[in-house]
Amino acid sequence: MGQKGREIAKLDHKWLLNELNKAYAFEWVVHYYAALASDIVSGLRTPVYAEIFKKAAEGELGHAGRIAKRIAELGGEPCASMAEIEKLAGFGKVGFPKNRSDIKGFIEIFLKMERHAIELYNNLSNKTHGKDLVTHELAEDLLAEEVAEEEEYENLLKG
Ligand SMILES: [Fe+2]
Ligand SMILES: [Fe+2]
Repeated sequence: MGQKGREIAKLDHKWLLNELNKAYAFEWVVHYYAALASDIVSGLRTPVYAEIFKKAAEGELGHAGRIAKRIAELGGEPCASMAEIEKLAGFGKVGFPKNRSDIKGFIEIFLKMERHAIELYNNLSNKTHGKDLVTHELAEDLLAEEVAEEEEYENLLKG
């Protein structure tokens, strides 16, 4: 980011980069688990859910990419350690259902993740409002996507 770009960003730089890195890490965690779910889900409706989880994995990786670009624009470093990614994400342990055809069990985990993401971006959106418009727009955009994803999972749970 150039001189003027830095001037107009009125937030504590260190704080903002840390928040963005937490979001970056969390998106990677969701990406990882969605990709894994796509590979291990089984049962009669496997192809349908494998595809749903695969698409989700791609979407979350896209989110991670957008955040990484913003971190770089701000002169920061996106977290480059997988061990740190898990710690930074701060989501805790994810236990997939032992029964790989327990679709509801899988979806409940992803629903929890979407809700975590919603809180994260709602918070980031509020805190950047009027202070860092570029990050604010990114946070709003991601918030809208996570809100839509939560609804999709809720609808899947209803069957
Ligand atoms: Fe996401
Ligand atoms: Fe999501």
